[in-house]
Amino acid sequence: MRSAYRIALMPGDGIGPEVIREAVKIGEAVLESIGIRVFFEEFPNGAEHYLRTGETLSEETLEKLKGFDAIFFGAVGDPRIKPGILEKGILLKLRSSLDLYVNLRPVKLLNGVESPLKGFGPGDIDFVVIRENTEDFYVDMGGRVDASCSRAFEFTVNTGGARGSKYRVEVDSSSGEAFQIGVISRKGAERIIKFSFEYAIKRGMRRITFVDKANVLTEAYGLWREIAEKIGEEYKNIVESEFMYVDAAALHMVLNPKRFKVIVAPNMFGDILTDLGAAIQGGLGFAPSGNINPDGTSMFEPVHGSAPDKAGKNIANPIASILTFSLMLEHLWSRYNDEHLLEASRIIEKAVENVLASGKFKTVDMGGNTKTNEMGDAILAEAKRLVHSGR
Ligand code: NAD
Ligand code: IPM
Ligand code: MN
Repeated sequence: MRSAYRIALMPGDGIGPEVIREAVKIGEAVLESIGIRVFFEEFPNGAEHYLRTGETLSEETLEKLKGFDAIFFGAVGDPRIKPGILEKGILLKLRSSLDLYVNLRPVKLLNGVESPLKGFGPGDIDFVVIRENTEDFYVDMGGRVDASCSRAFEFTVNTGGARGSKYRVEVDSSSGEAFQIGVISRKGAERIIKFSFEYAIKRGMRRITFVDKANVLTEAYGLWREIAEKIGEEYKNIVESEFMYVDAAALHMVLNPKRFKVIVAPNMFGDILTDLGAAIQGGLGFAPSGNINPDGTSMFEPVHGSAPDKAGKNIANPIASILTFSLMLEHLWSRYNDEHLLEASRIIEKAVENVLASGKFKTVDMGGNTKTNEMGDAILAEAKRLVHSGR
């Protein structure tokens, strides 16, 4: 048990700083009111810092970040900068360097939020997507060749927390082409699948849906499925496993989301399915996520990006970010066994639920005109009321 916690803040770009500010305002107040000290240190990484210095995320900053109890992240991405530079240079670098192999993305429709799915209310949409977060098409192995060109490429990729599988690709091209290689490693699949079973058991969830595309991408996702089947055997008396192709999973998420409890997906399918998950829970303004290394410093961020169309206008919905703060505290509770952290996490979540259920505050994405800071103020006031009323 700890008496004080250190959180690194990386607000980033676009609406990142606007939504992070609201979450920190609420998180700090709740933690202090129940006697937990928390120290925040802000890091400037993002578009402005890159344009000024040419640096995305230095090794020195990465080392520093490892000394924090958690990292609270906004979003990166800026229309002035070529796509991929900040996303890969900062976000994906954090995920790979800190080996944040679990991406936990709860999908929950809250009372007072409208889902675009007809006939579904709160309680009908409530599941968790566990996305593998370091492998698949995210290993950054790819290249381009011009027409009438012959070239060899060499790559070293880190998989499953281990270093250095070497790949050599020779291309003899007549048309000019590009390739991208996805990797599923045995260790990488095993660790996320085991984590998922343990996660489900701890929370009394009795079924896991494993998603893949083993009918076409038979090598990579074939291995993924084989490993899930094998590990599933060990757990079969406690947790049922089912297997679903990703296209069918997308269909069922829309037609029958009630059937899901835990979805476990390789990296890229997990990326796509969680924006769909965000949509059915009312939008990206409600979707939190945690990038977790069970044995190290983890990073928490809303699922959404920097939303350049809404940046600087004080109109973004801060709830995804506020729920992300709550998720971070829940994770720190499980890591440090400090019950106060769980209490703080629950208070924040409850405050969000009560404010939404009141129907009085709706940001633009909800069809209203509540400003970012006004939504934050309303949740802060409700959180304080909950603390003082002893809930
Ligand atoms: P996006 O998530 O930023 O936005 C998609 C849509 O959702 C936009 O219409 C946006 O206005 C809306 N939206 C997102 N968050 C919202 C919120 N909190 N409140 C209200 N509306 C919200 O995705 P995009 O437009 O595809 O990407 C924009 C930039 O962000 C790109 O540079 C992209 O690479 C980057 N990105 C970063 C992250 C991240 O840092 N985690 C995630 C996704 C995208
Ligand atoms: C997400 C984002 C990132 C991803 C991008 C910005 C690198 O879409 O966190 O879902 O693809 O993982
Ligand atoms: Mn995404």
